[in-house]
Amino acid sequence: MDAPNISVSGGILDLSLINRLLHDNETHILAVINQKGGVGKSTTAINLASALAEEGAAVLVIDLDPQGNTTSGFGIDKNDLEADIYKSLMGRKAFKAAILPTDIPDVYIVPATLQLAGAEIELVRKKQRETVLKRKLKPVAKYFDYVLIDCPPSLGLLTLNALVAATGELIPLQCEYYALEGVAKLLETTKLVQATNNPDLQIEGVLLTMYDARTSLSRSVANETREFFGNKVFKTLIPRQVKLAEAPSYGEPVTVYAPHSKGARAYRKLAREVLNRG
Ligand SMILES: Nc1ncnc2c1ncn2[C@@H]1O[C@H](COP(=O)(O)OP(=O)(O)O)[C@@H](O)[C@H]1O
Ligand SMILES: [Mg+2]
Repeated sequence: MDAPNISVSGGILDLSLINRLLHDNETHILAVINQKGGVGKSTTAINLASALAEEGAAVLVIDLDPQGNTTSGFGIDKNDLEADIYKSLMGRKAFKAAILPTDIPDVYIVPATLQLAGAEIELVRKKQRETVLKRKLKPVAKYFDYVLIDCPPSLGLLTLNALVAATGELIPLQCEYYALEGVAKLLETTKLVQATNNPDLQIEGVLLTMYDARTSLSRSVANETREFFGNKVFKTLIPRQVKLAEAPSYGEPVTVYAPHSKGARAYRKLAREVLNRG
């Protein structure tokens, strides 16, 4: 078998990835998706990636949101990037060249900057515009156990690319009023993608975020969500916790910033649940 030699900004991907290749595991590609902003998508992409890596998985995070919150959440300086997701989607840089290591062992990222906002418009002119990400990802996905795609807060062309490339959707829902608002539209879009480009797309799980056990609102949103989605809802509840909101400003996942906090423990529990779902 050929030795993998993806170069990551001059370096070579970790030896553990060679192991992966030898074991020929399938790669789970999860779109972290909800067209509502502020529900915990980026927080989940960052912290689930880190927690999965702690459990021994090799993880690639793709930041597909022009806001680049996930990129900065890993402490990456957006002004200092040679390649990013925008340039690779547009074919100006190789996808491989945009894969950067993070400070977390076994977590890699394809970063995003505001430039990506232009992609929604520029992609429209491309042939097979919904499958661009899928085609770029294909040759590199095998180096990872998990690929997490952090989606922008819309159901536009970037999100569509994520759904076409993905094997599953991870849907964070904030435990607030109107949590389920927009879900019908999201499920409609999912069906459309299943019927056209990606028949195997699954709902991997629904994640209740910013849960506050003291409020009846949180409890009733959780109940309502379980009624609607049944066992698709992860048992793990992500609590509302200030450490989770602080960590990105230090450029660290909560598993590093506050490793023993409730938030870190919750994301570790989620990682184990995700791994057990296989
Ligand atoms: N469990 C949580 N507890 C407290 N604050 C959180 C939690 N999850 C996310 N936040 C904060 O809420 C805001 C929105 O979260 P974010 O992950 O950026 O959402 P999205 O990516 O869906 O827009 C951010 O400021 C984030 O730090
Ligand atoms: Mg976000």
